[in-house]
Amino acid sequence: MATDDSGTRTPSPGQPIVGFAADIRPLFRETDRDSMETYFDLWSYRDVVDNLDAIRDRLDAGSMPCDGPWSPQQIDLLDRWRDGGMLP
Ligand code: HEM
Repeated sequence: MATDDSGTRTPSPGQPIVGFAADIRPLFRETDRDSMETYFDLWSYRDVVDNLDAIRDRLDAGSMPCDGPWSPQQIDLLDRWRDGGMLP
């Protein structure tokens, strides 16, 4: 991810843009969403943005998802989305 003088971020050449609807929402299974709905909606862009630090902490701790950790590739995709400005 490159940032120019005005602070505008652009993906490094060859790195695809990561969007919530296309790339991040599909990471959350229906069972994840159903289990977590009393806390927040994992299929909601707004809720995931608002709870991203807590989500990231749980992924690091390996305590969520409840039935087994995400792969490094899944976590990397979430981080690229975050670092790319959390596009919808
Ligand atoms: C089938 C899958 C899942 C189940 C059964 C589940 C269940 C739970 C339960 C029972 C809690 C409350 C108890 C606690 O704090 O540990 C919780 C909290 C949490 N879970 Fe999950 N979860 C699931 C998937 C996920 C996924 C996929 C994520 C995100 C990657 C996630 C992120 C979190 C977070 C951030 C909290 C803390 C919520 C808060 O305290 O506001 N969970 N989950």
